[in-house]
Amino acid sequence: MTDSTARPVPEAFRDSANVSATSYDEMYRRSLEDSDSFWAEQANRLLHWFTSWESVQSGSLAGGDARWFEGAKLNAAYNCLDRHLENNADSTALIWEPEDESAENRRFTYRELHDAVCRSASALRGIGVKRGDRVCLYLPMIPEAVISMLACARMGAIHSVVFSGCSPDALRERIDDFQASVVITADQAIRFGRKVPLKARVDIACENLESVKRVVVVRRGGDDVDWKDGRDLWFDDLLRGAPSDSPAAEMGAEDPLFILYTSGATSKPKGVLHTTGGYLVYAALTHEVILDHHAGDVHWCTAELGWITGHTYSVYGPLANGGTVVLFEGSFDAKKPARTWEIVDKYQVNSLYTTPTLIRTLMAQGDSHLETTRRNSLRVLGTVGEPINAEAWNWYHSKVGKDDCPVVDTWWQTETGGIVLSPVPAAESIKPGASAKPFFGIEAGLVDDSGELLEGEATGHLVLSRSWPGQMRSLYGNHDRFVESYLSANPGHYTTGDAAHRDADGHYRITGHVDDRITIAGVTLDTSDVENAITSDAGIAEAAVVAYTRDDGKDGIYAWVTPRIDTVTDNALADALKNRVQESLGETAVPDVIQWAPALPRTRSGKILRRILKQIANGAVDDLGDTTTLADANVVDALVELRQKGS
Ligand code: WTA
Repeated sequence: MTDSTARPVPEAFRDSANVSATSYDEMYRRSLEDSDSFWAEQANRLLHWFTSWESVQSGSLAGGDARWFEGAKLNAAYNCLDRHLENNADSTALIWEPEDESAENRRFTYRELHDAVCRSASALRGIGVKRGDRVCLYLPMIPEAVISMLACARMGAIHSVVFSGCSPDALRERIDDFQASVVITADQAIRFGRKVPLKARVDIACENLESVKRVVVVRRGGDDVDWKDGRDLWFDDLLRGAPSDSPAAEMGAEDPLFILYTSGATSKPKGVLHTTGGYLVYAALTHEVILDHHAGDVHWCTAELGWITGHTYSVYGPLANGGTVVLFEGSFDAKKPARTWEIVDKYQVNSLYTTPTLIRTLMAQGDSHLETTRRNSLRVLGTVGEPINAEAWNWYHSKVGKDDCPVVDTWWQTETGGIVLSPVPAAESIKPGASAKPFFGIEAGLVDDSGELLEGEATGHLVLSRSWPGQMRSLYGNHDRFVESYLSANPGHYTTGDAAHRDADGHYRITGHVDDRITIAGVTLDTSDVENAITSDAGIAEAAVVAYTRDDGKDGIYAWVTPRIDTVTDNALADALKNRVQESLGETAVPDVIQWAPALPRTRSGKILRRILKQIANGAVDDLGDTTTLADANVVDALVELRQKGS
């Protein structure tokens, strides 16, 4: 496939009077060469501003002081709700699908969501929350989570959503770091039909934490909870008396909108800080162009709200664009693979945004679960969070999308606010697993180990070299750590921590986190290359490769491999997989061990926890470190047992 030089303008722009460029590439060039006017146009087209800016951008990415739309005033919740009331008040903003498929769903029109958010914002004001205060949300995937986020935004409080699977210790560490005055939680969450005691965990987390004055509790599970008089309040009691007349605070474009912690797998969690104006422009534009939003579309992003993907592509992007968002309460149950497609059909989802993990999990169940659904509403299929191997990409494209929907493999990070590298559905010839180009305004590059920028086709560390509106501004309360973590390794650039390959057409393929490289006998391998060779066998669903120390003390390669449901796992298959690796990457890359694994440990945001796989492979299982983000801790126990039997 070749890259066309005159790609068309993405459809989303075709109706816009402001767009004068005639091709995507030309728009991309303009976004770099005439950056101020490009972003001013987008900001005016996509959002409502109470007051316009004095300067579009100032400071710089490398200097750690980038600022966008300075002097402007806006409100994120106003842009997600009020702005749509004039023409779209009765269209659906949010559909909530409960985990229990026999229970009733909930739908909110824009008018209804607006009303709920206004009353929640009044209620927060009523209990003393002030502009700039921090509010912690520790909630299940229920509408009140979206309502609370937008209520904070409406009244100018800074929200920090903590993933509801976090332990009390992890929750406490975060609340203490950003000094929340209010925590909003639920009595219990419901997961796989069981009740998870969120309020009880909040009680433990908040013990002797002076900053927390109020704990607001949404009823979800319905079981009794311990109650601290004077501190605890029921959400519905609070709303009952709250006025629905709640003016949207006029926030500065650079006022903080939220703090979101990146998982602390290796170090103290980082409180990534995003501000209001630039983030929202970038969220809306990437959602419109990359997830191909059109008026009336239904969009389903499967991410938890506690991750950045949930923030940008379940809440701020699609609602700023006036779309309909599907929010699913449940965990994805491998035993019910058809549920995903039933939800797509039930709500006529147009854009589905999910993770390679979910795709591989469903793919491992065979194809029969696809046969009971039609999926004809789908128009674009997105993926994020991990490298997607070619087999999973092809399955998503041909089986799920029936060869009719572009697959957008989007690369970005909590820190980048929105998608940074991706194909664009309306403008691209898309190559499986290798089609990501920098989005408008993004200047991407590769550097070698000594920090030299590489030209042309190359493999290296991925860096970003100029500011874009959605970039993080700081780490909350610790600007020095921000500079140190991201801006000092390669002066002049933001260091992403990921390794990538760039082909001759300028397409990037992320090969994984820099730490996922293995050096064997002086040869450096990307684990994803070995994994791709293994998963190219049709019988394999998923593989994760880690370095380990062999019994003879030498460095070796340990491959955890999950077969598809109908695959016979025997020595012949293990040998066949080793052959595949040898043929595509040579002898050095052949794994010493192929260990069959019924499932791989991963976070609830879908990332395989390689650190843990590495520890198990090395037999170092006494202290597995922070396991609070694991989706299912039982998986780890099963693998430890297998490793012990196998060695
Ligand atoms: C990885 C998620 C390969 C990468 C939005 C990145 C990916 C980290 C992709 C950020 C992709 C994300 N291909 N790897 N399409 N997307 N990653 O902060 O290592 O939860 O640095 O943000 O996920 O994870 P985070």
